[in-house]
Amino acid sequence: MVGLPARGKTYISKKLTRYLNWSGVPTKVFNVGEYRREAVKEFSSYDFFRADNQEAMKVRRQCALAALVDVKCYLKEEGGQIAVFDATNTTRERRSLIIDFAKENDFKVFFIESVCDDPSVVASNVLEVKLSSPDYKGCSSKAALDDFMKRINCYKNMYEPLDPDDHDRDLSMIIVIDVGRRFLVNRVQDHIQSKIVYYLMNIHVQPRCIYLCRAGESESNIKGKIGGDSGLSQRGKKFSIALKKYIEDQNLKELKVWTSQLKRTIQTAEALKVPYEQWKALNELDSGVCEDKTYDEIKEQFPEEYALRAQDKYYYRYPSGESYQDLVQRLEPVIMELERQGNILVICHQAIMRCLLSYFLDKSADEMPYLKCPLHTLLKLTPYAYGKCFFIFINLVVSIVSFHFEFVQESKKAPAPLMRRNSVTPLASPEPTKKARINSFEDLGAALSGCATQEPPTVQATQVPLQPLLGKACL
Ligand code: F6P
Repeated sequence: MVGLPARGKTYISKKLTRYLNWSGVPTKVFNVGEYRREAVKEFSSYDFFRADNQEAMKVRRQCALAALVDVKCYLKEEGGQIAVFDATNTTRERRSLIIDFAKENDFKVFFIESVCDDPSVVASNVLEVKLSSPDYKGCSSKAALDDFMKRINCYKNMYEPLDPDDHDRDLSMIIVIDVGRRFLVNRVQDHIQSKIVYYLMNIHVQPRCIYLCRAGESESNIKGKIGGDSGLSQRGKKFSIALKKYIEDQNLKELKVWTSQLKRTIQTAEALKVPYEQWKALNELDSGVCEDKTYDEIKEQFPEEYALRAQDKYYYRYPSGESYQDLVQRLEPVIMELERQGNILVICHQAIMRCLLSYFLDKSADEMPYLKCPLHTLLKLTPYAYGKCFFIFINLVVSIVSFHFEFVQESKKAPAPLMRRNSVTPLASPEPTKKARINSFEDLGAALSGCATQEPPTVQATQVPLQPLLGKACL
């Protein structure tokens, strides 16, 4: 990251990291401010940031170096693929340090600079997040604001912005101008960098609400069958009317409504009597050969499939169907478009809602398939500082047939080894140690033959040269 204080660097870092982890790229933020707070327990004032404060300058450099050591460890030993180095990095000298460090370790660098000179944006950012910083614990708002503005001025005196036309013409970067009003992109090196550029061009910080719910109870729900394309039950219809009333009462400005292309979500939306858009990408997880069966029937007819799913629900792919991991790929364009929207209601399905919710609440791949998303319950998400979301569940009080299935208990009991791998793309998980899909050539052989005989090993370092082969394994 590059930019003066209070330009949204930490917001971008955290939000981008959440997105990349969700989409399967292990990513972690290294916030140099936290290292500084650890090193200098008592922050006194902006004096610490003055260019002529030699002692403090030394400490700040040490903190940046300590963070880089941790970056190296994360990328080389802990299975991380992207480290977001969240600091001001406002001088060429500091950026050279990072570039040299990356060269030594064979890492690629992509700079994200946030430039904003609108005083009202800066002031609202300072008020929203900086005054509550541990640096100003016990300070009055006025004193904290005053000190923070002086801190910004210390940086302004030394600031050397990225210069894509001359000095920095060979560096890869995106410069985000005025919170996304304009962008400057230079020398994008690869797919992941272009993915980052695309994401940053889609996010916004306008206040809004995101509502998620499942379709009303369906005829299949009553029979305990998964998948299918049945219509709403009587209770499901009642839910759609309760939903209409709730939404009307909120008086939301320009609410958009999205559904899947399955009957039950369309019928739920129809009751609202407002325009809506259908997305095929929002259709429920495809349970392949198990569609239209009850969990008991699956256990009886496909005991092996049942056991495999219980062992690893995120990766498990139904024969001729999908896994939760597949859903994440399918939902990526939906997330991108959701980021562009204002107030929005998404009427979808259990597994889809879990995937969307994981993105907004930063849940790991392990948690995702078990998130509670009951029928007839509306979830309201309200984004706040650093891209996090407040959330509440609103029970629209229409009873449902008792139909709930928990794999959690089963998976805790299951001692059997994993017998089949279903997928080879990287895992989304905030844990420092990642489970790799493929860890060695033996594993690769097993994956290519469609059968791994051991539990997935804990990864130390993902072997980069395997990537082209992994592509084939996927095919
Ligand atoms: O039971 C309703 C349902 O939406 C099914 O159509 C779908 O297969 C299932 O939920 C997904 O939940 P789980 O992944 O827990 O089986």
